[in-house]
Amino acid sequence: MLPQEIIRKKRDGAALDPREIAFFVSGLVSGAVTEMQASALAMAVFFNGMTRGEAVALTVAMRDSGAVLDWAGETLPGPVLDKHSTGGVGDNVSLLLAPAVAACGGYVPMISGRGLGHTGGTLDKLEAIPGYTAKPDNALFRAVVRDTGCAIIGQTETLAPADKRLYAIRDVTATVESIPLITASILSKKLAAGLEGLVMDVKTGTGAFMPTLEQSRALAASIVAVANGAGLKTTALITDMNEALGPAAGNAVEVVNAIDNLTGRRRDARLIAVTAALGAEMLLTGGLAATLEDARGRIAAALASGAAAERFARMAAALGGPHDLMESPQKHLPSAPLIRPVFAGHAGTVTAVDARALGLVVVGLGGGRTRAADAIDPAVGLTEIAAICERVDVNNPLALIHARDEAQVAAAAAAVRAAYRLGAGAARPPLIVERLTEEGA
Ligand code: URA
Repeated sequence: MLPQEIIRKKRDGAALDPREIAFFVSGLVSGAVTEMQASALAMAVFFNGMTRGEAVALTVAMRDSGAVLDWAGETLPGPVLDKHSTGGVGDNVSLLLAPAVAACGGYVPMISGRGLGHTGGTLDKLEAIPGYTAKPDNALFRAVVRDTGCAIIGQTETLAPADKRLYAIRDVTATVESIPLITASILSKKLAAGLEGLVMDVKTGTGAFMPTLEQSRALAASIVAVANGAGLKTTALITDMNEALGPAAGNAVEVVNAIDNLTGRRRDARLIAVTAALGAEMLLTGGLAATLEDARGRIAAALASGAAAERFARMAAALGGPHDLMESPQKHLPSAPLIRPVFAGHAGTVTAVDARALGLVVVGLGGGRTRAADAIDPAVGLTEIAAICERVDVNNPLALIHARDEAQVAAAAAAVRAAYRLGAGAARPPLIVERLTEEGA
């Protein structure tokens, strides 16, 4: 087989067969396929798309380009489950969801990513916890999953290396925004984690990677069809990202927010509702509940009773974090020297928010990256972010800014004000917009 013949076939609109796809993907890792050839194929896929069969073959070939975890040896008494999100602002659902599902009998080996663009990354948030090992060796990772029911860690070098190479090429050749390529990229890593069930959280709205509902729906349908086609039971929820999901955006501030929700010091309704909806999908897929309603109730109970908090505490301690993290998170997590309110120019009710702009405020403060190699400041961010339908006035700010210096405060305040629309009254968009299952995909 010749790489250029495979590129020509895709360029001319024909479907590739699985052997051609497997040849190309293994060539990407071995070096037999050059970066020029990979970028040409990516552009041909960008323009001509892929059939479901081709996308399944690409996903499976990328999964098989590296190690595939197998949990059978651990003889776990429950199913191995996970969630993946397309990313958002103020979204620390993973920190609540993994321990809640563990408390309900699931096992969650969650391999999470860093912040991308305006969206926060679970890995960056967890690295704000002093001592937390986000890159444990395989033996520790397996032991923590087995003993506590969940471990949230970073991507390892050995899982789906073809995706790492292809993503880097797509990033610099304007070929990221291709539904079959995004699908294969996300799912190859999830399949390599050896899961038995997955729920996908596809965000829609101003802070989403795919802002329109039509695009979000197309991505969710593709992921559900391709994952199930590759043998991984998967459902998807399309959830609202027209505002920050929770009241905090940043790294340490989101860990504190998640811990406060786990311990009951706070109850942020939208954060908990999305956690319960995604957790319910995981329990149902894993056979741990008979109905979605029953499953939602079980996740909510795990959060309310402190059972999820207890799992989170054990996971964090097993991965090197402080033993009294839950009791006094602020003692351990870094905090910014300045915490300043930003007020709206006039009083009113929040009618709309540019959630992407809020995410970019966090990046501007140093809490996110503009280049993959950038270091981040874990302490900065926003808290008490005003939500749609909330009243803001001289006593109720749009947000609190956590910053290093006055210049940062001034720039962030102007950007936060510009992100908000105020009016007399507002309607809140639905939080869970759509549910997609294999039958409907
Ligand atoms: N996230 C991924 O892992 N891959 C993509 O292609 C896009 C988002």
